[in-house]
Amino acid sequence: MKVTILKTAQEIGRTAGEMFVQTVLAKPDAVLGLATGATPLPTYDYMANACKEGRVSFKDVSTFNLDEYCDLPKSHKNSYFTFMTENLFSKIDVNSANVHFLDGNAPDAEAESRRYAAEIERAGGIDIQFLGIGRNGHIAFNEPSDKFTNDAFKVQLTESTIEANSMYFDDVPMPRFAMTMGVGSIMRAKKIVLVATGKSKAEAVFAMIKGDIDPHCPASILKAHPDCTVLLDEDAASLL
Ligand code: PGA
Repeated sequence: MKVTILKTAQEIGRTAGEMFVQTVLAKPDAVLGLATGATPLPTYDYMANACKEGRVSFKDVSTFNLDEYCDLPKSHKNSYFTFMTENLFSKIDVNSANVHFLDGNAPDAEAESRRYAAEIERAGGIDIQFLGIGRNGHIAFNEPSDKFTNDAFKVQLTESTIEANSMYFDDVPMPRFAMTMGVGSIMRAKKIVLVATGKSKAEAVFAMIKGDIDPHCPASILKAHPDCTVLLDEDAASLL
């Protein structure tokens, strides 16, 4: 795990964004694993600008998002599909046929998990996976638990996650369940970049980097990945 501490969220966005740009320049049909949340936004701004300036084209990439809420229409303003459309996909030249999401409303979660794993495999596997980290150490919606997960599955969100994200929901209550890629699917990505900013992430970052590999801090498994870059601001790194 390569840990870099940068001064601002914008610098983190530039660094992570440039990793995505370089991946696509080297392999125009790269498979990108994408994340939602506030932390990825400067990275998505950087990627959108690079595309607008003509430095890179995303027209042949495929994208796979990490997770999606259950019991929320795909078109709802708080769905992760809407988040990605507003913050990245509408600003780059990605082909919408190559954009992939877990279906949070699939009637059979296990069949949906198998479908997603097969789609990722058919695309050739994820070349670069983007991650944030939850205050409780979660990656995607893999919440702290007694064992690491493998493929995608339906998860009941923890109180910590509900507390962190419910501020975004003003018309409907925040969903209590989500479909998420599992830790095994994340670890199969060829390259991983995790970003964390702010004091609220300091304890999780400390447990991820200094603690044992333990499913009670799901992000700690990233220490076992051969090509994982962690980009932190000084607040997120303040307990290291
Ligand atoms: P955030 O979410 O970027 O909004 O803090 C990160 C996460 O929960 O993975």
